[in-house]
Amino acid sequence: MSPLFRVKPLDRLIGDTERPDQQLRRTLGPIQLMLLGIGAIVGAGIFSTVGTAAAGGEHHVGAGPALVVSFLMVAVACGFAALCYAEFAAMVPVAGSAYTYAYATLGELIAWLIGWDLVLEYAVSNAAVAISWSGYFQELLRGFHVSIPAWLGTDFRSALQATAQVAQAHAAGTDLATLGAGILRDAEALKSAPHLLGLPIIFNLPAFSIIAIITWIGLIGIRETAFTNSALAIGKLVIIVFFLVLGACYVKPENWTPFAPNGLKGISSAAAIIFFAYIGFDAVSTASEEARNPQRDMPIGIIGSLVVCTVLYVAVAVVLTGMAKWDTLGNAEPLAFAFSALNMHWTAGIIALGAVLATTSALVPFQVGQTRIFFAMGRDGLLPPWAAKVHPRWRTPHITTILTGVFVAAFSSLANINELVELTNIGTLLAFALVAGGILILRRTQPDRPRPFRAPLVPWVPLAAILCCGYLAAKLPVVTWVRFFVWMAVGLMIYFGYGVRRSRLRKTPLVPA
Ligand code: ALA
Repeated sequence: MSPLFRVKPLDRLIGDTERPDQQLRRTLGPIQLMLLGIGAIVGAGIFSTVGTAAAGGEHHVGAGPALVVSFLMVAVACGFAALCYAEFAAMVPVAGSAYTYAYATLGELIAWLIGWDLVLEYAVSNAAVAISWSGYFQELLRGFHVSIPAWLGTDFRSALQATAQVAQAHAAGTDLATLGAGILRDAEALKSAPHLLGLPIIFNLPAFSIIAIITWIGLIGIRETAFTNSALAIGKLVIIVFFLVLGACYVKPENWTPFAPNGLKGISSAAAIIFFAYIGFDAVSTASEEARNPQRDMPIGIIGSLVVCTVLYVAVAVVLTGMAKWDTLGNAEPLAFAFSALNMHWTAGIIALGAVLATTSALVPFQVGQTRIFFAMGRDGLLPPWAAKVHPRWRTPHITTILTGVFVAAFSSLANINELVELTNIGTLLAFALVAGGILILRRTQPDRPRPFRAPLVPWVPLAAILCCGYLAAKLPVVTWVRFFVWMAVGLMIYFGYGVRRSRLRKTPLVPA
């Protein structure tokens, strides 16, 4: 067999986790797993991306009030993928998620590509979440009459776009106030920025700082306990319910017409963007080694968290587009904006505080998850041995933690949130499609392996997952596809330059699966 397609046998994968010195404690029940999912899912997507999805952005038109249809569409797509994840997670209760599953089924090359691709889902998405965090954090500070200089609160690209919008409004004689405070602040950044070697310095300091803090927490190994994680997840649900209940009192039904101002085009391109809001249910699968009864509880955790979030998201879409005209929502803090536009600054402040807490807790699992994926790849020999080094005192993979921190902090402080969201989505859609493909392959190659949870209607459900993911990916801008291909090409070069020769699987004889 070509070494590119060698697989890590499932029994060996599971065997690795049964070594007493490497065993995690099985303490999590179904509710905790569901809350783990909700903790990872609810973040920048529902607090920020929802605004550009409704109103439209640089590369896409908005869905308008039909955003609710986009949310339902994506929920269906994620539902198909979730059933595939659930089958895998119950069958292979091993940490490492899609990377591990691919190693067991699709072979080393695809496993490497997924591992590399997951950097987009974990690290790049965290850079986007940090930018959303920064937006709400600054909103909160303003509530206390504290503002940081505009050039330290945004990125160069947003500042440039905002400046162009202001110039256009000037030329057209439009009242600048209609652009919204966020755009005026971003435009101010370019005017007030200090210069170094003739270049304006514009830098998202709060985003950089939150990633630095989260990295430090990951480094010294403070893991959220199941209790704090559950408490934070419940906190997020409470703040969203607070938005819904209060917001429902200020809905003006006339805001819902026209319902779909940009037709199917708007609905589907918004769907490709708000897919971001659902990412995270797959993170439940990374806890399968810590589940008390993974066979029964993994599917409950994965699918349950997806269902709860879908219900909430649909409700948020209805209320948000009912509170404010859809085309005014294109800013980074739409949920708070909907209230501040009604002069309800206290309520907006409470929402901003809730969003800051919610996004902080969404950052931790992805930042830690990324380092663990690098760790697993290092342990398998696909990355250099330092990637799997553990700090003698803190017992954390300190080198990968610091490198991931530097990468994410740099991106979050310099890049534009929409670009990062799109790149994350394309990467995650590929991972979901590959996991669904893995289910199809494994049903053929290992039909007799015990499957505590079986995805229904195979091959149709995995095929539907692949098709839906492909459809959503096709709705992303061309520039995102180009960036994605460049990223994957770099990954291939690293694999053929390093991993293919150093793989541990190549060095140790295979035990037949
Ligand atoms: N679903 C996660 C969020 O929206 C990535 O922040």
